[in-house]
Amino acid sequence: MDLFFRKSMIALSGLFLCVFLIVHLSANCILVLPEEMARELYNAYSTTLRESPLIKIVAYVLYLSIIVHVVYAVLVTVRNRRAKPTSYAVNHSNENSSWASQNMMLLGLFVLLFIVVHLANFWARIKLGMGEAVGTDAHGYVDVYEVTYSLFQNIYYVVFYSVLMIPLGYHLHHGLKSAFKTLGFYHKTGLAVIVKVAVVYALVMSIGFGLIPFIVYFK
Ligand code: HEM
Repeated sequence: MDLFFRKSMIALSGLFLCVFLIVHLSANCILVLPEEMARELYNAYSTTLRESPLIKIVAYVLYLSIIVHVVYAVLVTVRNRRAKPTSYAVNHSNENSSWASQNMMLLGLFVLLFIVVHLANFWARIKLGMGEAVGTDAHGYVDVYEVTYSLFQNIYYVVFYSVLMIPLGYHLHHGLKSAFKTLGFYHKTGLAVIVKVAVVYALVMSIGFGLIPFIVYFK
């Protein structure tokens, strides 16, 4: 299959995942509010999303995007390695590209590890009903706040969630820039803006997601 098609699939699914993360971080900011406000708001928000038919379709697009992104990234990496089986005696790659760009697969594997553990912690319990049953709050909403709050009473999970936001940040920073280039966006000033936006975006996502577990832990 055409390399451009594969790379475009990685870029498009990646951009969709970037938009999801903005919405997801905004919702998770509720967790830092005082408990009496946060519990009701977070549970009401989460229930509304789960019950909306439109959001259910978006959720399937999200799962498909994760699968497409991972599968095509593996296919492109394997193809590139096969095309360059021998390492050159003199390797100028460091001069030509950043560390993150050369290690996107490794960074992506850390992000995937995070997503697998994260989905087991939340999605499998809340959506699939696996593991310990989830209760309801005073308003009858599924108590997703309690699932989050109790998980982040465990310092190992707090550290796991926060530390893995570092590879996520590097992956997002390089991924966002290269997605636009892959899709043919080569406008000079436009690219300079995207480079700056990518830095801000990656910092906000990694610091935002990385701080929330600590804030909940010390609440
Ligand atoms: C502070 C960090 C985070 C918290 C507290 C958090 C919390 C949650 C919760 C509570 C759910 C289940 C929502 C529900 O079904 O009602 C969820 C789902 C999910 N989270 Fe996170 N999340 C965090 C970070 C992340 C990050 C960094 C990613 C991606 C890299 C991510 C990806 C997902 C995905 C893909 C789902 C499934 C969404 C769905 O089924 O609609 N989360 N998260």
